[in-house]
Amino acid sequence: MSTNTISIVPASAEDAASVRPIISEIYARAFRLPPWNEEWTDGEAWAAIEEKMDLGADLFLAIDEDGERVVGLALGIMLTESYPDAADLAPFGLVPGAYYCIDMAVCETHQRRGIGAQLLQAREARARELGASAVGMRTRPDNTACVVCYKHRGYTHTGTYQVVTGHVESPRAVHVKQL
Ligand SMILES: CC(C)(COP(=O)(O)OP(=O)(O)OC[C@H]1O[C@@H](n2cnc3c(N)ncnc32)[C@H](O)[C@@H]1OP(=O)(O)O)[C@@H](O)C(=O)NCCC(=O)NCCS
Repeated sequence: MSTNTISIVPASAEDAASVRPIISEIYARAFRLPPWNEEWTDGEAWAAIEEKMDLGADLFLAIDEDGERVVGLALGIMLTESYPDAADLAPFGLVPGAYYCIDMAVCETHQRRGIGAQLLQAREARARELGASAVGMRTRPDNTACVVCYKHRGYTHTGTYQVVTGHVESPRAVHVKQL
């Protein structure tokens, strides 16, 4: 049935498994492109999704206008002290009890149509539902698309720190909105 609008839906681990090839590809492709330029396989992208869902992360999928194709995904989680990046994020206002927008990716064919903003809105709604004190994310400072998406929705840059991936060091800017 055609709905003529993009819909954002929460997805369980079973839902994710049923669309594994497409979400793995969208996620991996997004991070193989600038500014990330990461050598990320679809398998590694899937492992990252599974790892975050095993930690209790929420997964949201964006479904195209025809209601047939997944065109984007987003992960978010209520931060606890045991979350792997909790200690790195805390100095920048993303403390346990805040909701962390882990990642999002929109299929290249569907970018710049407001889907990223809708995926953010869905996670903000989830954060409010869970009683989170704040919502935030971290990304590369040169990731204009992501930074603009959050800044235009009231997020403030709270600081930048270096992360080390393999032997490569690169900056991550944290942006936070109080709820
Ligand atoms: C970040 C990303 C998810 C945004 O998805 P999108 O569906 O294209 O975003 P939207 O169309 O909702 O745009 C949101 C806002 O960002 C702006 N924007 C999007 N892409 C932009 C770009 N390349 N340059 C400047 N502004 C941009 C839009 O104009 C819009 O502005 P508005 O707030 O005034 O409406 C998408 O670019 C992506 O998948 N990037 C690769 C993966 C990634 O970096 N994810 C984030 C990891 S932290």
